[in-house]
Amino acid sequence: MMNEQQRQEASRIRQGEPSDIKSETDNLERLKQTSSDDFVKYFETTYEPPSLKSAKKRGKEDVEIHYDYTIPEEMQNVGDGQKYMIRTYGCQMNEHDTEVMAGLFEEMGYTSTSDTKEADIILLNTCAIRENAENKVFGELGHLKSLKRENPDLILGVCGCMSQEESVVNRILKKHPFVDMIFGTHNIHRLPHLVKEAMFGKEMVVEVWSKEGDIIENLPRSRKGNIKAWVNIMYGCDKFCTYCIVPYTRGKERSRLPEDVIQEVRHLAAQGYKEVTLLGQNVNAYGKDFDFDYGLGDLMDELRKIDIPRVRFTTSHPRDFDDRLIEVLAKGGNMLDHIHLPVQSGSSAVLKIMARKYTRERYLELVDKIRTAMPNATLTTDIIVGFPNETEEQFEETLSLVEEVGFESAYTFIYSPREGTPAAKMQDNIPMDVKKERLHRLNDLINKQSAETMEKYQGEVVNVLVEGESKNNSEVLAGYTERNKLVNFRGSKSAIGQIVKVKITNTKTWTLDGEMVEEAAEVK
Ligand code: 5AD
Ligand code: SF4
Repeated sequence: MMNEQQRQEASRIRQGEPSDIKSETDNLERLKQTSSDDFVKYFETTYEPPSLKSAKKRGKEDVEIHYDYTIPEEMQNVGDGQKYMIRTYGCQMNEHDTEVMAGLFEEMGYTSTSDTKEADIILLNTCAIRENAENKVFGELGHLKSLKRENPDLILGVCGCMSQEESVVNRILKKHPFVDMIFGTHNIHRLPHLVKEAMFGKEMVVEVWSKEGDIIENLPRSRKGNIKAWVNIMYGCDKFCTYCIVPYTRGKERSRLPEDVIQEVRHLAAQGYKEVTLLGQNVNAYGKDFDFDYGLGDLMDELRKIDIPRVRFTTSHPRDFDDRLIEVLAKGGNMLDHIHLPVQSGSSAVLKIMARKYTRERYLELVDKIRTAMPNATLTTDIIVGFPNETEEQFEETLSLVEEVGFESAYTFIYSPREGTPAAKMQDNIPMDVKKERLHRLNDLINKQSAETMEKYQGEVVNVLVEGESKNNSEVLAGYTERNKLVNFRGSKSAIGQIVKVKITNTKTWTLDGEMVEEAAEVK
């Protein structure tokens, strides 16, 4: 691993902003002096939105790491007495980005609110993975328009994955001109500057980088809770599965240095957090971009030694899931034996056009290896139905794979063409009623398997990390087992934040009911 000196050498600090952004900002500055018609004309004729093509053509240049982030002095109190609100769509990566932006707002003096009417600044942190995720955001923009009319001082921003898509930026520019700022996934740290521009400028602030940025280590975070925490271990994805927009919206794979991850987890443990989830779009590719030999298995082996009861990771790609990782996970301790292993399809022919780079057989071999090393491992997955040309037989192969592996739960999706991805060039030729019917059959099977797994817990005693009161009943506590099963049980509120033993008294399709048998269980 790198020592401090090597790390400092690796940390070449970039001065200023990438030149394309700089000139973009200059242009916008100049345009602020001109009429709004000129501004629109500029966007129609000169402005180049983030290019999906250039995102794909990225090179292998070094990633720079910064440890010296500061909020400009003039922005440090700008939010005093004001409130921010961030609405988050999509995955855990977005949830965690929201925690970073919340941290930035709080360092600027803002406090949070969940009431749109009270907010001085509202951000929509968006998801681009499927069309319905995008539709929700455009719907929300429609609602916010009237709020903006009532309160013209309100600052409205759109950020996250949708902002990285040129079609979205164009649509907002043309149809939602009341939006004050748009920024993407690579320049979250620029939030204070962008807020400043939006506050003092008259026109929409648009700053979206097509090329991924560097890694900035010391950004503030305002975490959602004090029991479970997310920790980024890498950013971006290089897999380019043909249906997926993520490699375009999140850029190339960049891993954080092991010592930075380890330090963050140690710090969380010292603060009393009980569980960390390591985050990345493809965590199994962790370390592939280092010029030294180090992977997720090595990282997990180090995290095993930290005094934190639970370490999870998400999300995995079967292709990169290696023996070293399996060997380390099998050591147990704080390594949980729940593995989320997206398969997407059970048909080798479909997997091939999805460019998943494994076959049904290879996936099943991997499952065998995992089960041999960890006989109790819980496996969950992601599946897409209705990919272009998917035949009934190919769909049935997915059903048979689900049975063969015995997935205990799954996120299931109807294929949604994403502009700019290779699959979007194929005809989306499976009728919606067929897609829905397949999804329905798949969900029935998954529900059945989940219910059967749950039944086996009847009468068992499980370790539950208590997160708080149940959503539906404040008399009941709720938390998750090591295998990610949600348990509702009666117990003393003092158990919140602890790992306790709960005896299961009733099982349902997706949840377990129980009674607390003793407080503060020993960590396995
Ligand atoms: N259509 C439907 N589902 C998709 N996913 C990713 N892209 C698409 C798409 N275009 C699903 C995959 C992935 C999960 C996060 O979202 O199953 O694993
Ligand atoms: Fe998308 Fe495939 Fe990368 Fe997952 S591994 S984020 S599905 S491209």
